[in-house]
Amino acid sequence: MRIGIATDHGGFNLKETLVDHLKAAGHEVVDFGAFTLKEDDDYPDFVIPLAEAVAAGDVVRGIAVCGSGVGASVCANKVKGVHAALIADHFSAKQGVEDDHMNILCIGGRTQGPEVAKDLVDTFLAAEFSDAPRHLRRLGKVAKLESAQ
Ligand code: RB5
Repeated sequence: MRIGIATDHGGFNLKETLVDHLKAAGHEVVDFGAFTLKEDDDYPDFVIPLAEAVAAGDVVRGIAVCGSGVGASVCANKVKGVHAALIADHFSAKQGVEDDHMNILCIGGRTQGPEVAKDLVDTFLAAEFSDAPRHLRRLGKVAKLESAQ
């Protein structure tokens, strides 16, 4: 799968770990940076290009990391067509895709250990949207709100 990934300084080390993990699993990784650790960089500079690539279909799914994952998720969700969520548990990494069509997984680089983060990523990438009528109905209501803005 062609996967995009982005981080600011708060998730820099975790992003490097996840890039290696994704490549070892055979995924194609598009890295949106940061490429060097700079303590004063800003997560929107990396997360917005990632979110735009997901919305455009240039990458199939995205992984956005920052210190807590909060800023990354707030930022990514401003891009139309993005369903991003801050995830810290296995259940939500799976159900977020199946029920809510999550297409960007957000992780906190300062709150999540590398092994749990790898499990969250693997679970997210293995999950598929259910296409169930009730989930489509709910997402239709979300999309309507998005279109009205
Ligand atoms: C940067 O220090 C930090 O605020 C950022 O990485 C993120 O945690 C914001 O949500």
